[in-house]
Amino acid sequence: MKALVLKSYGKNARLDFETRPMPRVKDNEILVKIHAVGLNPIDNMIPAGTFKPILQFTLPAVMGSDLAGIVVERGKKVTRFHSGDAVYASIFDTDNGALSEYVAVPESAASLKPRSLDFIEAASLPMVALTSWQAFEHVNLLAGQKVFIPAGSGGIGTFAIQLARHLGASVATTTSAGNSELVSRLGAQHVIDYKTQDFEKVLSGYDVVLGTLRGDSIQKAIQILRPGGNLVSLTGPVDLPFARHRNMNPFMKALFWLMSRKINEMASQRQVRYGFHFVHPDGSRLSDIAELVDAGKLAPVIDRVFSFEETLSALSYLKTGHAKGKVVVAFSPES
Ligand SMILES: NC(=O)c1ccc[n+]([C@@H]2O[C@H](COP(=O)([O-])OP(=O)(O)OC[C@H]3O[C@@H](n4cnc5c(N)ncnc54)[C@H](OP(=O)(O)O)[C@@H]3O)[C@@H](O)[C@H]2O)c1
Repeated sequence: MKALVLKSYGKNARLDFETRPMPRVKDNEILVKIHAVGLNPIDNMIPAGTFKPILQFTLPAVMGSDLAGIVVERGKKVTRFHSGDAVYASIFDTDNGALSEYVAVPESAASLKPRSLDFIEAASLPMVALTSWQAFEHVNLLAGQKVFIPAGSGGIGTFAIQLARHLGASVATTTSAGNSELVSRLGAQHVIDYKTQDFEKVLSGYDVVLGTLRGDSIQKAIQILRPGGNLVSLTGPVDLPFARHRNMNPFMKALFWLMSRKINEMASQRQVRYGFHFVHPDGSRLSDIAELVDAGKLAPVIDRVFSFEETLSALSYLKTGHAKGKVVVAFSPES
């Protein structure tokens, strides 16, 4: 079977299509014939080597996390899925990669796909949906609260805005003028054009910020929180609770403590809390999300679809940082 394989890290990382043996399913895994794979910025960051201290891959390794497809085989201990089931999953941070014609997926990471979506739409959701859900759980986002979700037109933003509104929160976001209608349609009540306005001069008294941008945006976002508010960052700085959660060695724990010292000091001066969140696979949460999608409460936003053969172009397009919603790779015409 054909797969996209990372062979070496770096600025000029080697990513090649290769013929690989069919995966063998373990007792707790299902074998999925892939119909579509959703891409995420981390699919560019892993080859660049950015995540080497956190995610250990043995190269060559198949890339890709988010998938939708059909179950063709199941391990002895699998109970929730049968051959022929249409499923979706994020296999981020497991040993397997989704950019492959077939992939073994832990049963715990998979869910039946939303019935109302095709495979391309379903594959666009897992990582952004799980990240948004888990991050809002991390800060216990409540109905009636005000949340700031920068980059509302991106993969995370387009889902997180809808989820926050579904939870009853009110949403402010940033985007460039051309995407303002999109984010308003998704539910954002306060839209700031980041090219002409500084959000920290316009917003104040927020309960929650979802940190989706790199650079000094996280420090600036601290300023818009009310005392007691929460900033949950998806982009770093990484922190000590995260190092503890991943059972890292003492050196890494000290390093991550140091990396987040400045932001933690700023947060405590302003009497707000800072935390880094890293997504984890969760098939049961994906089932909840599928129900909400089928009930018409949440919907995917797809920017562009590429064929499997065009995956490297799809990754380059995503790297521009200006996708409107999600970029998806389709494997078969019937996706
Ligand atoms: N920690 C985790 O577990 C986790 C999980 C998923 C993602 N992430 C991270 O979260 C970040 C967002 O991911 P994503 O999938 O949403 O990325 P994305 O889809 O590539 O984001 C693209 C969007 O960002 C907008 N944008 C770019 N610069 C902006 C700025 N200065 N202000 C406002 N909007 C801006 C662009 O809008 P315009 O075209 O209008 O500029 C575009 O629509 C990434 O860094 C990703 O690595 C972390």
